[in-house]
Amino acid sequence: MNKLWIDTDTASDDAVALMIALSLAPERVAGISTVAGNVPVHLSSRNAGYTARLCEFETLIHEGAASPLCRTLETAQYIHGEDGMGDIGLKLGSPDLSGIPAAVALVEAARQHKGELEVVTLGPLTNIALALKLDPDFASNIAKMTIMGGTSDCYGNVTPVSEFNIWADPEAADVVFRSAIPKVMVGWDISRKYAGISNSDAEELLAIGTSKAKVAVNSQKVLREFCSSTSGVEGFDLPDPITTAVALNPSVITEVKPYAVRVVCGEGPSRGLTILKDRHCNDEPKTTQVALAADRTIFWKMLQEALK
Ligand code: BDR
Ligand code: CA
Repeated sequence: MNKLWIDTDTASDDAVALMIALSLAPERVAGISTVAGNVPVHLSSRNAGYTARLCEFETLIHEGAASPLCRTLETAQYIHGEDGMGDIGLKLGSPDLSGIPAAVALVEAARQHKGELEVVTLGPLTNIALALKLDPDFASNIAKMTIMGGTSDCYGNVTPVSEFNIWADPEAADVVFRSAIPKVMVGWDISRKYAGISNSDAEELLAIGTSKAKVAVNSQKVLREFCSSTSGVEGFDLPDPITTAVALNPSVITEVKPYAVRVVCGEGPSRGLTILKDRHCNDEPKTTQVALAADRTIFWKMLQEALK
């Protein structure tokens, strides 16, 4: 089995994604790196370290980019809480940092596990763009990258058309989508349609009774309030967890189509929009398999299993 590397801007749903990987396939996880996104990067590292300890997984965290490639960081603490973990008073402690920047650690891991390293990205793609710049062989050393980001239906969560991870650092995302890395894109549409957690689903998860289950549900507090107040939706969705489930078990995805994905960079109302190109006149390589449908039952079983 290929090794897995998780690059995350750890906030509440990233934490659940880490629980899935560290509980269902700990032997495959070769490294965890952090990036600024939902929260500043030092909080992302703190939350990743906390979650790894909760899963009894010993690791050093490779802290990465503190800001997007060429713009100011705009976090999503209004969605995930000031601490990123729902502001429920968790004692998050301090992470054990490797002292190796994420992009450098990624390049080294890709060389070490040449052709056998799969990367899962759960935040802005800054670290990956930097790794591509650092090492011209990085793209060919990576077996696969599963990306939580973008949308296949132009229905965004941070603007009317853009998804947060891509919008936060569109220039980095465009570098990554243009690269030769074989990619699977799990957009926000997949989360919205197949990874929604209703209030009764949340009760079912809480009833598992473990510390992991309690943190997984209760850390979504600010997210739940945000969903309820902005769209009247009770409950929340889990984009990073379903993406991680896809990386562990590709049969979670039931329909994919290859595209050359491009990102709208710069400013303006379409900043961060993912454009899916598949026309006959377009000879750009279609390096991204875009997920178009998923199997919720498989995802739900994996989630329950991971939280036991
Ligand atoms: C993405 O942005 C963050 O809010 C989540 O952690 C997820 O990675 C969804 O748009
Ligand atoms: Ca995330």
